[in-house]
Amino acid sequence: MALAELKAKINDRSAILAVIGLGYVGLPVAALFAQKGFQVIGVDIKQQRIDRINQGISPIEGKEPGLSDLIASVVDSGKLVATTDYQPLRDADIILIDVETPVNDEHVPEYHALRSAVQSLASVLKKGALVIVESTVMPGTLEKIVLPIIEEETGFQCNTDFYLGNCPERVMPGKLLHNLTKMSRVVGGGNEETADVMAALYRIIVEADVDTADWITAEIVKTAENTYRDVQIAFANEVALICEALGADVWKVRELVRKSPGREMLFPGAGVGGHCIPKDPWLLASSVRDTGVPVRLIPAAREINTTMPHHLVRLVEAQLGELKRRKVLILGYAYLHDSDDDRNSPSQILVRLLEKAGAQPVIHDPFISAYKGQVLEKADGCDLAVLMTAHSEYSKLNLKALAAKLKKSILVDGRNVIDPESAEQAGLILVRLGDTSREAN
Ligand SMILES: NC(=O)c1ccc[n+]([C@@H]2O[C@H](COP(=O)([O-])OP(=O)(O)OC[C@H]3O[C@@H](n4cnc5c(N)ncnc54)[C@H](O)[C@@H]3O)[C@@H](O)[C@H]2O)c1
Repeated sequence: MALAELKAKINDRSAILAVIGLGYVGLPVAALFAQKGFQVIGVDIKQQRIDRINQGISPIEGKEPGLSDLIASVVDSGKLVATTDYQPLRDADIILIDVETPVNDEHVPEYHALRSAVQSLASVLKKGALVIVESTVMPGTLEKIVLPIIEEETGFQCNTDFYLGNCPERVMPGKLLHNLTKMSRVVGGGNEETADVMAALYRIIVEADVDTADWITAEIVKTAENTYRDVQIAFANEVALICEALGADVWKVRELVRKSPGREMLFPGAGVGGHCIPKDPWLLASSVRDTGVPVRLIPAAREINTTMPHHLVRLVEAQLGELKRRKVLILGYAYLHDSDDDRNSPSQILVRLLEKAGAQPVIHDPFISAYKGQVLEKADGCDLAVLMTAHSEYSKLNLKALAAKLKKSILVDGRNVIDPESAEQAGLILVRLGDTSREAN
């Protein structure tokens, strides 16, 4: 099938779409294209996930406006069908790949899922199909990994027998459908014609710019935008540590810094987590590993952000001294407010560090089954609390009751959720990350 024919099939919605990897990214994408009239086949290796989706139930637990209803409706209409079997992909005209792309302990891309997905796809890929990698990858991955696997397994030639592109996702848990439809996208094509067809496809679901580029540009844009965020957060964290040491309030400093033109300052906090920000900077850095480019800022920012939970432990120690047998209530285990996503969450590091020091962490999270429950019940018998995730529930805490339950009536706030005056009125001793201004006065 030529690209012109594929474009016509996109325009009249007769193209059959497949989405490989039905996680935080792939599932909402599959549902949106199904809603727009495409027949969509969703593939995942997790049978339980497939079963839930085919029952019309979203497997994503956090607050995700519109997603549950959308999945129920497209499954009910038969437009989205999920399976663990790659065979139905023999009919697919367009295949989106949305599998996880982690890095290993040495910060090197770990492409088990991507390789396996591409290999399985290659065994059933039909001539003329368009393959789009939506996963975030190390710049150079399309050319060095995805393209050779497909060409070797199929004997097809790119840009003649099949087409290849990338369209990195910009979603964020809690705003999946919003970001997918409202945020601009970059499509990278193996040639200009492929990029144009891809843009036509994405303009069906995206109500913002869809910019065309080549593979390497699109790969760099995605990893660079997340690296930018990591570096900016690291800057805010470093300023927070400086404020603490100098008896100042980073939140006041931030407010005033931002009055200077062009000086945006992100939020400092208890750490950075999720599937993306902790690894995308390493994906970018890895792309020049053998070139001699001195990559210095990216590792420094990573170091600052991954050690913020260590700083939280120091704040706890400053209050409790010896941590052995101390019970510490951890408020929030997900990495992001109102989400169930706990991948690489700073709370995981905090728990490990506290346990290593002999303390007993008690974890509460309203969105993660293992940690659900009443905050006040969990607080009973704990020495102090550490607020790690800005879940909405925590901004409505009964501070007086919490102060009464905690042996030391202390809360260490790693996310600037608790208002200092309200805490004072409630008799709760508030330790704020980045703020020692009240101690200094
Ligand atoms: N989560 C985010 O907020 C976000 C945002 C932007 C980009 N991304 C990128 O999107 C990609 C996917 O992220 P995610 O958060 O959706 O991951 P996820 O872990 O939620 O989903 C990935 C899914 O792929 C499935 N999978 C793995 N190997 C497979 C295979 N061989 N065949 C079929 N299915 C397979 C897994 O079972 C899983 O359900 C990553 O590259 C990530 O960096 C994620």
